[in-house]
Amino acid sequence: MYRLCCLLLVFMGISLSGGVGAAEKWVALPPASLAQWYKPQNERQVWLHAMFSLRREIQAVTEYAALGDQPLMEKWAGQFAKHYLSIAEMVPEWKDELDYEWLEQLQLAVRQGNSERVLHAVKKIGQGCNSCHREYRATVALLYRTPDFSNINVKQSGSGEVQTYKELMRELSALVNRIKIASDDGRNSQALDSLDQLNSRLHDLGEVCANCHKDDAPKERFLGSLTQSALADLKRGLEQEDQKLVGRSMGSAAVYACARCHAVHRSLYDVREQLKP
Ligand code: HEC
Ligand code: HEC
Ligand code: HEC
Repeated sequence: MYRLCCLLLVFMGISLSGGVGAAEKWVALPPASLAQWYKPQNERQVWLHAMFSLRREIQAVTEYAALGDQPLMEKWAGQFAKHYLSIAEMVPEWKDELDYEWLEQLQLAVRQGNSERVLHAVKKIGQGCNSCHREYRATVALLYRTPDFSNINVKQSGSGEVQTYKELMRELSALVNRIKIASDDGRNSQALDSLDQLNSRLHDLGEVCANCHKDDAPKERFLGSLTQSALADLKRGLEQEDQKLVGRSMGSAAVYACARCHAVHRSLYDVREQLKP
């Protein structure tokens, strides 16, 4: 019921049209109740932190079992059981994913101080962890922990007009191409006008990073000195009518700013949008 049919196009060198070579793959979506354990419904990524606790507790139980330290093994096994059972409290639909029998076996072996049986039970429980992870881990991370650009708006400097993120992207693309077309046709002053606009729109784009990023390093990475110097070269190329410099600097700017950000933000956002129920 939480499944979404996702058409994965397998290209294999075959043309896109007609869906030739397309293969269907089912992607399991998590129950909607999971959302309350993630931002923005929750202040923290509660679910993810419960998972980190489980891994730490299982490690502690294993290590103290090997050391034969009974009190510390009991302490961590108790915490582990509590967190493990909390999975079904947080997401009741996932109750069936829990292995109550092996949890009981684990608790028994811990009380008996039987390391060998403790390790065996831990291994069995671990198989259940893996099976849920195989099915849901990637989709949950994509749905709940990748940045969402659908509500990000950008204010245009000067006019103060507000655009959606997507509208700004289309404008950036149009400006880049307008520069290229004008330059190819020897209309360099038109190209320079478009470059001015591109610079100012990239500046506006840079203003929205702070919605999510607390420091300046991410902005520097895509819109910082590398991009700025490529754009300065582009300007010089257009002024000096140096086609080679124009081509090279334009390619660099497109990689430093556009392609690098798309690899980080756009692809993940696209996948997230595809997965949304
Ligand atoms: C009912 C499903 C389910 C079960 C059972 C489950 N997990 Fe998870 N686990 C998840 C999901 C979903 C994620 C992805 C969370 C995210 O990325 O925000 C996850 C992520 C994790 C992560 C973080 C992975 C990483 O590499 O960043 C750890 C560690 C983890 N789980 C440990 C465990 C352990 C240990 C157990 C068993 C004792 C367990 N989980 C059982 C669903 C489950
Ligand atoms: C909707 C929220 C959001 C917006 C808006 C956003 N980012 Fe990000 N960005 C993230 C998140 C979340 C990550 C994952 C790593 C992290 O938390 O820093 C990330 C990762 C990155 C990374 C790679 C890892 C790092 O931290 O260096 C870069 C570079 C980056 N963003 C640049 C930018 C730039 C530049 C802008 C503005 C033009 C921007 N981002 C706007 C949320 C956002
Ligand atoms: C800070 C990150 C970032 C930078 C820098 C960036 N983009 Fe994007 N771009 C995105 C994201 C995120 C999307 C997806 C937006 C959406 O689908 O709503 C996107 C989508 C696009 C799209 C598709 C829009 C559509 O119609 O779906 C185009 C075209 C585009 N970008 C062009 C560019 C160009 C050209 C540049 C460089 C001059 C650039 N982008 C720089 C993050 C960025």
